[in-house]
Amino acid sequence: MADDTTDTKSSNQMWGGRFASGPDAIMEEINASIGFDKKLFAQDIRGSIAHATMLAHQGIISAEDKDKIVHGLNTILSEIESGNFEFSRQLEDIHMNVEARLATLIGPAAGRLHTARSRNDQVALDFRLWVKEELQKTEQMLTHLIAAFLDRAEEHAESVMPGFTHLQTAQPVTFGHHCMAYVEMFGRDRSRVRHAIEHLDESPIGAAALAGTGYPIDRHMTAKALGFREPTRNSIDTVSDRDFAIEFLSIAAIAGMHLSRLAEEIVIWSTPQFGFVRLSDAFSTGSSIMPQKKNPDAAELVRAKTGRINGSLVALLTIMKGLPLAYSKDMQEDKEQVFDAAESLELAIAAMTGMVRDMTVNTARMKAAAGSGYSTATDLADWLVREAGLPFRDAHHVTGRAVALAESKGCDLAELPLSDLQAIHPDITDKVYDVLTVEASVASRKSFGGTAPSEVRKQIAFWRARN
Ligand code: ARG
Repeated sequence: MADDTTDTKSSNQMWGGRFASGPDAIMEEINASIGFDKKLFAQDIRGSIAHATMLAHQGIISAEDKDKIVHGLNTILSEIESGNFEFSRQLEDIHMNVEARLATLIGPAAGRLHTARSRNDQVALDFRLWVKEELQKTEQMLTHLIAAFLDRAEEHAESVMPGFTHLQTAQPVTFGHHCMAYVEMFGRDRSRVRHAIEHLDESPIGAAALAGTGYPIDRHMTAKALGFREPTRNSIDTVSDRDFAIEFLSIAAIAGMHLSRLAEEIVIWSTPQFGFVRLSDAFSTGSSIMPQKKNPDAAELVRAKTGRINGSLVALLTIMKGLPLAYSKDMQEDKEQVFDAAESLELAIAAMTGMVRDMTVNTARMKAAAGSGYSTATDLADWLVREAGLPFRDAHHVTGRAVALAESKGCDLAELPLSDLQAIHPDITDKVYDVLTVEASVASRKSFGGTAPSEVRKQIAFWRARN
């Protein structure tokens, strides 16, 4: 009993059954972020070099100390890059791990680096730099995905497929047009990414703990050195703000939703029942028991990754929602959410780009399906409006009767004899058969943004020029 209470390092009698270690160790475990924030080492060192350089330029530290600091930081950078750095959990986070090593390497000069800054503006800086780079990478990756779709759209500007609403055959469209719908979606994602880069392009360093500093620092100088447009304008907001991370996660969630819809379509299209596309071996797997199977696992996993990304967005919004200004340690929990979502998003975009480029499109299957389900019924109604002068509502009714007749005969609209059609409406002539084919149907839809191959080609040209 006495032994237990005097030794704080050993298992505590109150919760000892659950925890193998005492309160100090538990504090260390809940407090430390080095396990994940070591990912920020390059940003941390870049930030410190810019800060030390500015301090020397402003006469706050000596040029010799600055040189020692910069040299030491570069040594640490190569140590970490080559895997020769020992991270310590006792030192909590990346900032203190780097600073402690700097002290070992260069001695007392290391102690001058943290002048006029705090870990609060330091972590805001490191994380912003990381998110900015990740957004730039995302922009590139989306551009590749868009390019893959543009190529498929060009190749299939004339390939007819059924267009769906409610996943029921609606009207014929072209596969090129369908691909271009995704170009629009990922194009919007890319503009959101570009906008977010502009939005976060302000340097937090120099906000210090929350109130700014009495040292004569030059925040414009550090902002410029670190590639930011300008410094942030309010030191309290600067250390309280994680909007840039939440914006990244929102963008990732919306892009993830797009990727997931595409994944779902690929899952459907690649079933033997649809047979619209065949995934390459590179992006599918077999079954361990059913030899005939080829599973769209990559698409399914993209669909699932979206759930994780949404989880991260909700997690960070929830972490931030009740925090008083300025910094609270809760904010340390921002990084894992963003790192995990970034990894999921990158993988999902890469996998989708590969699948879209590699998949074989079965145009014959698509065309056959495009003609089934009375997909040209609207074309018949439009013909009655145009050629027989019927109001659209009446034409809709006449067409409905024609569809019902075809259904009862088990044939297509185009297979109904003229006499049958004329019995439904006397003004129908044999010219009507010209609009009942799927090719005529898509070619007629020349309205801006419509499915006609000529329109689709215009949109492809627009996006090729826009890149
Ligand atoms: N590891 C911390 C984080 O990620 C760094 C900032 C710590 N600041 C503080 N005042 N304890 O948020």
